Amino acid sequence: MENQNRFYIYVLCLSITAYTSAFLLTTSSDRATAGRDSIILTVPGTFDKDKLNGSRWTCGSQIQDKVSNPVQVYVDIPITKVDLTSNLSNENPIKVVSGSKHLFICTANASQSAARIQWYLSGTNITDQASAQPSICSTGCETVISSSILSYIGNITDNGKTMYCTAVNGEGQSVNSTMKSIDILYQPIISDIPDYNVTEGNTLSIFPIIDANPQPTFLVESSR
Ligand SMILES: *[C@@H]1O[C@H](CO)[C@@H](O)[C@H](O)[C@H]1NC(C)=O
Ligand SMILES: *[C@@H]1O[C@H](CO)[C@@H](O)[C@H](O)[C@H]1NC(C)=O
Ligand SMILES: *[C@@H]1O[C@H](CO)[C@@H](O)[C@H](O)[C@H]1NC(C)=O
Ligand SMILES: *[C@@H]1O[C@H](CO)[C@@H](O)[C@H](O)[C@H]1NC(C)=O
Ligand SMILES: *[C@@H]1O[C@H](CO)[C@@H](O)[C@H](O)[C@H]1NC(C)=O
Ligand SMILES: *[C@@H]1O[C@H](CO)[C@@H](O)[C@H](O)[C@H]1NC(C)=O
Ligand SMILES: *[C@@H]1O[C@H](CO)[C@@H](O)[C@H](O)[C@H]1NC(C)=O
Repeated sequence: MENQNRFYIYVLCLSITAYTSAFLLTTSSDRATAGRDSIILTVPGTFDKDKLNGSRWTCGSQIQDKVSNPVQVYVDIPITKVDLTSNLSNENPIKVVSGSKHLFICTANASQSAARIQWYLSGTNITDQASAQPSICSTGCETVISSSILSYIGNITDNGKTMYCTAVNGEGQSVNSTMKSIDILYQPIISDIPDYNVTEGNTLSIFPIIDANPQPTFLVESSR
């Protein structure tokens, strides 16, 4: 059950001054922001998400009957994962034939707010080449699944580069997908064969310059 998720919220109950006995309650999802002198409570280890969301909390001293300001707590379900897949295979490196079209799909798992998906190829932002897909509802629209599709055409200059995507939600939380190496397979290109006019009876030697990935193991020259 989604509602049985564990939430950790650090509650800071600050005694403002020793004389007034006023208390200040603040909450933080980050323990590091908690002050050294504050009381840190983890409320509670396991809590029903729906009851916790929007709940009001106060703290104070039982002896002096003073309470702090009330603090309202909201629950946010952050993005925890983003997957980079391709419509061909999920091997790594991904083999793409030069010049052929390949779809890469980046899917962020359910989060509170829609995520903005960005694409990178060896550090270069290639988000412009992708198209964001409409968000899909999850668990009765309580959370959404965001995705983006990158239509990629194999380019020799990208051989060995790494592709990954990131998902950033409204709160600025960001997660990275795994890195996928791109292996561009290209057809042997025979270049620099000069024009020869073969005169009958003469022997012609041709030394082609072959550029291919993977290197061809043998080359068959067809004769006419
Ligand atoms: C928490 O409550 C707020 C405001 O009512 C709402 O927008 C949000 O979706 C709720 N969060 C969850 C996880 O249900
Ligand atoms: C992957 O997508 C490309 C582009 O739409 C398409 O040409 C190709 O057939 C697809 N491959 C598979 C295995 O679906
Ligand atoms: C997101 O994916 C992670 C890892 O698969 C999973 O543990 C988590 O429950 C998922 N979160 C949501 C909100 O679907
Ligand atoms: C990446 O490119 C997209 C589209 O041009 C842009 O909206 C986004 O801000 C860029 N991201 C970064 C981190 O620069
Ligand atoms: C391959 O990438 C290079 C460098 O980004 C670019 O100049 C070239 O036009 C691309 N080739 C094709 C066929 O898209
Ligand atoms: C994502 O990867 C980039 C490049 O390696 C790195 O700079 C960034 O810190 C990573 N972000 C996260 C949230 O891990
Ligand atoms: C081969 O012969 C053609 C036709 O006679 C001529 O146009 C061409 O220049 C010749 N090429 C070379 C490399 O001699």
